[in-house]
Amino acid sequence: MERVPTGIYGLDEMMGGGFPKGHTIVVMGAYGTGKTTFGLQYIWEGVKRGEKGIYLSLEEDVESVLASAESFGWDFAAHKDRNLFIVRLDPQEAMTSVRQLKDGFVRTLKEIGATRVVVDSITLLAMLFEDEAERRREIFNLARSVKAAGATSVFTAEVDPRNPYVTRDGLAEYVADGVILLRYEETASRDLDLTLRIVKMRRTRHSRKIKPYRITDEGIIVLSEADL
Ligand SMILES: Nc1ncnc2c1ncn2[C@@H]1O[C@H](COP(=O)(O)OP(=O)(O)OP(=O)(O)O)[C@@H](O)[C@H]1O
Ligand SMILES: [Mg+2]
Repeated sequence: MERVPTGIYGLDEMMGGGFPKGHTIVVMGAYGTGKTTFGLQYIWEGVKRGEKGIYLSLEEDVESVLASAESFGWDFAAHKDRNLFIVRLDPQEAMTSVRQLKDGFVRTLKEIGATRVVVDSITLLAMLFEDEAERRREIFNLARSVKAAGATSVFTAEVDPRNPYVTRDGLAEYVADGVILLRYEETASRDLDLTLRIVKMRRTRHSRKIKPYRITDEGIIVLSEADL
């Protein structure tokens, strides 16, 4: 099976070398757990390998996406509109956004032949659609378009504040081939408080260990227990 290296130090070894090609991966976690960083790092790994990527941003405008990447030393600006495409959808402009999604994002996706797609976040994207049935249909359609285009994707998702093991809309994990959960661990005795686990990853063996990770000025680093 073809693998897509994530660019996240320590993560690929947990699942036999990377995401299975064509998978839709949901990266879920509470605010500040590094979901956006994960997405940026994944896209950047593709750029470094000469692949094309699209980053669909619902949270930040293009300038702040560039600035966030820059803060890790990833020069998105140098690759923008060449092999790195940033599409901004503003959830404030609901009607235009839905149209932009279909006319802009999905078309760009097909035209440029991107191999990596990031949606940050699928939670905000889902909110563009008013009723439950439409939301479900559109999220499924999006995942299908991305897959049909031959891309391997990362959808970030917020967790439900009452249950940090499910996403806020309870939808994303069902369209996903893989789910990665980022968490603050409540163990007060350690100063390491962020943990990552692979909850689900279709068609591959993977680690089920709960691994500590850090967000550094070079991005996310997953530690092996030996590094603790
Ligand atoms: N350049 C950087 N160097 C080191 N640490 C950083 C850097 N940028 C961000 N961080 C750390 O990463 C944390 C979370 O980053 P990120 O924005 O990826 O999380 P998130 O899960 O997307 O949050 P939100 O739910 O608010 O969108 C920040 O609060 C900060 O602690
Ligand atoms: Mg974010």
